[in-house]
Amino acid sequence: MSSLAQKRILLGVTGGIAAYKACELTRRLRDAGAEVRVVMTRAATEFVTPLTFQALSGQPVRGTLFDPEAEAGMDHIALARWADAILVAPATADFLARLAHGRADDLLTTLCLASEAPLCVAPAMNRAMWAHPATRANADTLCARGVHLLGPGEGSQACGETGEGRMLETPELLAGLEALFAGGSLAGLHVLVTAGPTREPLDPVRYLSNRSSGKMGYAVARAAREAGARVTLVTGPTALAPPEGIECIPVETAAEMHEVVLSRSAQVQVFIAAAAVADYRAAAVSTHKIKKSAGHLQLGLERNPDILAAVAALADRPFTVGFAAETRDLERNARTKLMKKGLDLIAANDVSGGRGFDADDNALALLWPGGGTKLPRQPKEQLARQLVRVISERLRADQGSKFKVQRGCNP
Ligand code: CTP
Repeated sequence: MSSLAQKRILLGVTGGIAAYKACELTRRLRDAGAEVRVVMTRAATEFVTPLTFQALSGQPVRGTLFDPEAEAGMDHIALARWADAILVAPATADFLARLAHGRADDLLTTLCLASEAPLCVAPAMNRAMWAHPATRANADTLCARGVHLLGPGEGSQACGETGEGRMLETPELLAGLEALFAGGSLAGLHVLVTAGPTREPLDPVRYLSNRSSGKMGYAVARAAREAGARVTLVTGPTALAPPEGIECIPVETAAEMHEVVLSRSAQVQVFIAAAAVADYRAAAVSTHKIKKSAGHLQLGLERNPDILAAVAALADRPFTVGFAAETRDLERNARTKLMKKGLDLIAANDVSGGRGFDADDNALALLWPGGGTKLPRQPKEQLARQLVRVISERLRADQGSKFKVQRGCNP
């Protein structure tokens, strides 16, 4: 049963083209057993009519603060108290700005101020508007205030551009809300996972890569989701289907993975680096196919950024977990990596003779500063669940010290 069953969700709809997606969201919230009341801004009614939401939610739709009839029924303070959670989807740049400034100039912003329920916002806007320093500052302010930011996602936009700013899809929004109410050892936390190999192009048809299948990283993402977390998966190219209820961000190169991970790490409480990131990339990518010749071919390579070490070095970093693939001296080498990169936990696996890669089972040695444990060989799904259990135990052991796990930005 969904954790949204019997929950009272106040759905705020603001004036963006993604408002049409809020119709489907209303349906799915009700399918999950939630009671939904919709509040629209004036601009939202330019995109979808209140009647649509009334039919879908089975409740009258509220729009203005000064509606004597509606206020005589359930006034805005009663409505604010009624909600177990508020979700604003889509949330426009203007709405984020008004929320960040504590405005109460329409019914929806007034409800957000008057309610003590958790508040989630799903930004939806053109990529340049989302990237603008004003919007970023507003989003950071909201985040620091404990507002749960769901997305935005990346992809093609209604304006014809491509980039970050799209509203998350309905299943991802539901998963974000469910994480608010779910029990589980990682409930209320946002976990960022990397998975799969990276591809480093040499020319238009060739690349350097490795044998990672992504199975372990995907299993870890699923296990974190099962443990109640909201999960974002940044994945290199794999043959695996995107896991349900998880925000998936596909990337190709280490540089792309580095950029996405660093742009997201301020919003998460746990980072798990399961990707087999290529340590090197071509110093120069040939624009034309490299032709064979009689002699040797020499490729110039340069180092890729170490994503895991970069996250571990952040001042306000999440609980940071790395993987180590070793062919000898497993624990000694892994412990050196743990200390050198400044990690909170490392999961070491023996890949001698090609073991571990593309297999369905694996064994792990888990090491953290001052301790460790072994997880015996078993299917990767089970192994991932045990790894997540240990992560949540270590997180709790460290809570109240250096991690921001209690701050609650993002479910
Ligand atoms: N990692 C990363 N970015 C890189 C390289 C690695 O985030 N550019 C992460 C991996 O996701 C993994 C861990 O770092 O969690 C692996 O560390 P690394 O030092 O690369 O270990 P090995 O791949 O085992 O490398 P080596 O033993 O060759 O140093």
